[in-house]
Amino acid sequence: MSEQRHFFVGGNWKMNGTYASIDEILKFLNGDNLDPKTEIVVAPPSLYLSYVRGKLNKNISVAAQNAYKVEKGAFTGDISPTQIKDVGGDWVILGHSERRHVFKEPNELIGEKVGHALSAGLKLIPCIGEKLEEREANKTEEVCFCQMKAIAENVKDINDWKRIVIAYEPVWAIGTGKVATPQQAQEAHHSVRQWISKNVSPDVAKCVRIIYGGSVTAGNCRELAQQPDVDGFLVGGASLKSEFVDIINARK
Ligand code: PGA
Repeated sequence: MSEQRHFFVGGNWKMNGTYASIDEILKFLNGDNLDPKTEIVVAPPSLYLSYVRGKLNKNISVAAQNAYKVEKGAFTGDISPTQIKDVGGDWVILGHSERRHVFKEPNELIGEKVGHALSAGLKLIPCIGEKLEEREANKTEEVCFCQMKAIAENVKDINDWKRIVIAYEPVWAIGTGKVATPQQAQEAHHSVRQWISKNVSPDVAKCVRIIYGGSVTAGNCRELAQQPDVDGFLVGGASLKSEFVDIINARK
């Protein structure tokens, strides 16, 4: 648990929410019992980004769940970092496992998106993580390092790392109820941090936040939050429920 890395909790709503259910989420997010020491970001579906930004307290930032690699043009169905900023979003999640595996986004495209979102001035949550068969074949590091390389190659200015929070999300833990053990999470975060130290810089490795995602709940967040290299969470299912507040307060 690092004092110098500000604890970070993101809520990824995925393709969930309508005005009625979002209003319920806003009620607990706008409550007064959130740990002020936690940096909080929520990622509604892009259709509702502007609505959520308008209704949400300003201590919580808003993210998009994805963005394309150019500013504008003939890319039916997609959105750009410029548009995200225009409607009040500060952050974007890139390379989420559902983008990688359902929508078949390759490492190279995710890298290009990282480069463009940075140049457009957004803050980024790039996601990495191995599938179950890769873990079972002892390929966790190989897969995560390869994903990290595609990301890092597109961070042209070392200062841009201050705008990046890495999410380690093992695919087998996402939406499955099978959370990584605190030891598994710590081990993966530690090796990603070592990779950053060796391939980017020791200073960046010390400062960059690496958050864990995959079946985080109010029940398992506290022990995970005590691990020295776990700097917060990216939460899917539980971010739609009031238990998200307990996850925000995991270090309180
Ligand atoms: P989950 O999703 O918390 O529902 O497992 C996490 C994520 O996909 O970011």
